[in-house]
Formats: sequence, structure tokens, C-alpha cells
Amino acid sequence: MSAQPGTPARPLRVAIIGAGPSGFYAAQALLKQKEYQVSVDMIDHLPTPYGLVRYGVAPDHQKIKAVTRLYDRVAGDPRLRFFGHVTMGPDISHEELKTYYDQIVYAVGAQTDKRLGIPGEDLRGSHPATEFVAWYNGHPDFSDRTFDLSTEAVAVIGVGNVAMDVARILALSPEELERSDIADHALLALRSSRVKDIYVIARRGPAQVKFTNSELRELAEMEVTDVIIDPADLELDAHSQAAIAANRGVQTNLEIMRHYAAIGDTHRPKNIHFLFLRSPVEIIGDGQGQVVRVKLERNELYPTESGYLASRGIGDYETLEVGMIMRSIGYRGQPIPGVPFHERWGIISNTEGRVSQYKSGEIVPGEYVVGWAKRGPTGIIGTNKPDSVATVRHMLADVPTLQPVPDSQADPLAFTSFLHDRQLRYVTWEEWKLLDAAEVAAGERRGRPRVKFVTVPDMLAAIDAAKAAQTPHR
Ligand SMILES: Cc1cc2nc3c(=O)[nH]c(=O)nc-3n(C[C@H](O)[C@H](O)[C@H](O)COP(=O)(O)OP(=O)(O)OC[C@H]3O[C@@H](n4cnc5c(N)ncnc54)[C@H](O)[C@@H]3O)c2cc1C
Ligand SMILES: NC(=O)c1ccc[n+]([C@@H]2O[C@H](COP(=O)([O-])OP(=O)(O)OC[C@H]3O[C@@H](n4cnc5c(N)ncnc54)[C@H](OP(=O)(O)O)[C@@H]3O)[C@@H](O)[C@H]2O)c1
Repeated sequence: MSAQPGTPARPLRVAIIGAGPSGFYAAQALLKQKEYQVSVDMIDHLPTPYGLVRYGVAPDHQKIKAVTRLYDRVAGDPRLRFFGHVTMGPDISHEELKTYYDQIVYAVGAQTDKRLGIPGEDLRGSHPATEFVAWYNGHPDFSDRTFDLSTEAVAVIGVGNVAMDVARILALSPEELERSDIADHALLALRSSRVKDIYVIARRGPAQVKFTNSELRELAEMEVTDVIIDPADLELDAHSQAAIAANRGVQTNLEIMRHYAAIGDTHRPKNIHFLFLRSPVEIIGDGQGQVVRVKLERNELYPTESGYLASRGIGDYETLEVGMIMRSIGYRGQPIPGVPFHERWGIISNTEGRVSQYKSGEIVPGEYVVGWAKRGPTGIIGTNKPDSVATVRHMLADVPTLQPVPDSQADPLAFTSFLHDRQLRYVTWEEWKLLDAAEVAAGERRGRPRVKFVTVPDMLAAIDAAKAAQTPHR
């Protein structure tokens, strides 16, 4: 038997898969609305919440991470429970989940990288930025990766904000990194890094970069690094000039780049070089599988029918001697078994946030998507708020016609019994707060914002230790 969900006697049961920004904004919108009584379970693969705010946002960008205070307030609502260290897929299947919840929201982000599709991409020393970022931020799935920083030259492919983060982390001094919450293993490796020259490679021109003014301006604050730009590269073609006339953001980027070009080389120990209108066409190894150089083709811009300025090769090649390549050309979603996936776009197939079958577009009742999993891997943290609110609006509109789960299954205890029966060691919000406090305390001892636990066993052990310390001794 099922009562109408959304009443005090039978709240609407919602699972949010993913505790990143989009998951929290969806939870906030559900908890704020007054139409229906709700009971929300937020499930994340990791023992820790906040998604890319913890594992993506650069460790030297502490102010941005303050957004987690808002998420903490959402999580403090008694109608929300957090289940960390539970992965949809291996731990609980799509079919199983559907038996406990009236509605499911996928907030799973984009967990992997796009590929260049060129020879040599898998040579040793060629890395997706996604992995480097996850490594330096202490993501448990990536903390055992190694990056050989004994090379003096690195190419970063792509000119988005992630490329800027990667270039900056490689260019900061150990003293600058020490002031951040970078993972200890990364701090140690970067301390003995020999990287001196970081080449940031754009396939289009300086007027088409994707990074934002603040990320570009911030490079001026680096203590040991010069920004090198050839003034000739900032001469714009007619198409670019026309395109930027009404774009203040691009104009400001160009002003900042001209400023860097005018300063030039001040002989600091490290350099970030910007190279425009070049595409990597082959990553070349030393015969033993190690990257030693990258072959670049020069490009020109041309307007497509839609007016977009695309790049194409002009058959003019050069090589750049680098021992490492960071491919920072974007993230990509991964399919979850049972959930429709748009292969080409790398997102959960959806119609304005309602999950829908790929190709036919038929709506899958009771399933929704938000954030990067919904619209692809673009947008800053704040972009996810209106996006999640829009999906929640559809969820509420669908309540009168949904197929509710049986009341016995809708009981919140039914889901916790399932986790116990499966012997899944899930992490509650209270446990996460113990872990958080332990990290911050470890940071205070070393004058750092926090020192992260970087493996799941260490996280669970720290939680157990904190709980044991709380238990009064007889
Ligand atoms: C390197 C980097 C730096 C960034 N820096 C900034 C910045 O400085 N400022 C800014 O405004 N924006 C920044 N962004 C953008 C911002 O991080 C994103 O807009 C935002 O995190 C997307 O939110 P999301 O909830 O869709 O995905 P995510 O933040 O990726 O959250 C997804 C969550 O889902 C969980 N998950 C995935 N699969 C499963 C599963 N099967 N079962 C259970 N849980 C699962 C993951 O563990 C994760 O916690 C940055 C992005 C990147 C990549
Ligand atoms: N501080 C912050 O606010 C911050 C920090 C990090 C990330 N973010 C956000 O997170 C999102 C993701 O960032 P992102 O940097 O991963 O993605 P992005 O902004 O989409 O940038 C991707 C870059 O890769 C290039 N590229 C794509 N395919 C390529 C190829 N085959 N060859 C060469 N270059 C290629 C793109 O060039 P084209 O333009 O030519 O396609 C672009 O320069 C963005 O919205 C970003 O703003 C924000």
C-alpha cells in the first residue's frame, strides 16, 4: 500500500546521488519549498561531501571553498541524511535504488576526461588534467598516482580555467603551496619539482580563450614565475576583432595579456608561456614509452555557419621539447548502469532535467538530473544553483502523477537496513564533521588551512578514532 507522497504522514522520499554543488542546491530547493513534505537522502561515492569544491577547486583558492558553509546549513536540516562512501553502481544498483525512493536526482558530475585522439596520447608522462587535479587535491581514488616532475618543461593543452589551475600549481613555489590545503603527497612531490617552463597551448587565438579575467590576473601574484607572451600573438585577425567588440570579458583578458607581454621575462626561476593558434597533432616518445616532445600544427581561424570561430591546421609544424603533457581539454560524464546516457555529449540523457531515453526522448518517470551530469562540464559553482532549482521545479510538478514506492520501503529505516544487510560501511554527516575537524586541527598544527586524509581507510580510521575519543571511559 502507498499513501500519497508529500504529506506529513508520508513524506516524499528523494535520493540525491552526488554531494557536490548541484546535489546541495537540489536539496536546498527541495527543503525550502512548502508544497510537499520531503525526506531526502544524499548519497556520495566518497566519505566526504562537496564534490569538486573539495577535489577540483584549486587548493590555493580557499575563499571559494567557503561556499561549503552554505552546504553545511543544508545538511543540518533534520529532513536530510548523508550517506558517504556509498557508490551507485557497485554498492547499490539502479533497480535497488528505485525500490526505496519516489524520486531520484542524479548529481554525479563528470568523472572522467575528454581525449585528444592523437598518436602518443597514452605515453608515460601524458596525463589528463582531471587526474593531476584529483591527485593534488587528495582525491582517494587518485592519491596513489605518480607524476614525474623531474622534467624541466611541461605542455598544458587547453586554455580553460582548469588549464590555468594546473599551470599555476606547477608554477607556485613550495612556500606558496604550503599556505594551501594541497595534499601532503603533492606538496612533497612539488617541493622537489624541477619544472621551469610551462607551455600553455591554445588551439585558437587570445580572443577565444576560455579562462576568466580573475584566473589570468592572478598569475601576476605568483612569487617565482614570469608570464611570457609574444606581443605579436596578440594582434587579432579581423574575425576576432569583430567578435570581441561587444565582449567586455574578452577585452579585459586581452588587456591583461598585453600587460604581461609588455613586462616580458624578468628572469624569475619559472615561466608560464602562452602559445596560441597551435594544436598538438602527435605526442612523441623516446622509444621507451616516455614523452620527450610534442608536435604542434599551426592553426588559422575561420567562421562557421553559426558564426563560431573554429580553428583548422595550415600544414605548418613545429616541435616542443617537453617531458610531460597535461591534457586539460575538458571533463566528461561516465554512464551509470541502468541510467540513459548521451554517448556523444557524455551526460545523462535528459529533457530539461527529466531523465529521458537517449534517441527516443521518452521520459523516465521519477528520475532527474542536475549539474554537470545534466548540461555537461561547464559552469562555475554558482551556475549549478538555478540549474538545480529548475530541475526541482519539474520534480514538484510531477508529484501528483508519480508512482510511489510502497510505504514500507519509503520508511527511512528501510534504506539503512538495506545498507546494513549489505555490510556497507557508510559515513554519516556527523562522522564527516569529525573527519573535517581532524583535518582542520592537523592543519592548525602546521599553519595550514587543513591537512587532508587522502585514502578511504585513513578517513574511516580517523572517524573511528574521533568517536572513540568522544566515548567517555568507564
Ligand atoms: C579543476 C576544477 C576547478 C574548479 N574550480 C572552480 C572554482 O574555483 N570556482 C568555481 O566557481 N567553480 C569551479 N569549478 C567548477 C565547479 O567545481 C563545478 O561547477 C561543480 O563542482 C559541478 O557540480 P556537480 O555537483 O555537478 O558535480 P561535482 O562537483 O563533480 O559532484 C559530483 C559528486 O557526485 C559523486 N558521484 C559521482 N558518481 C557517483 C556515484 N555513482 N555514486 C555516488 N556518488 C557519485 C562524486 O563523488 C561527487 O561528490 C571547478 C571545476 C574543476 C573541474
Ligand atoms: N576559478 C574558476 O572559476 C574555475 C576554475 C576551474 C574550472 N572552472 C570551470 O569549470 C568548467 C570546466 O573547465 P575546463 O577548463 O575543464 O573546460 P573549458 O572551459 O571548456 O576549457 C577547455 C579548453 O580545452 C580546449 N580544447 C578542447 N578540445 C580541444 C582539443 N581537441 N585540442 C585542443 N584544445 C582543446 C578548449 O578550446 P576551444 O575553446 O577551442 O574549444 C578550451 O580552451 C568551466 O566552466 C570553468 O570555467 C572554473
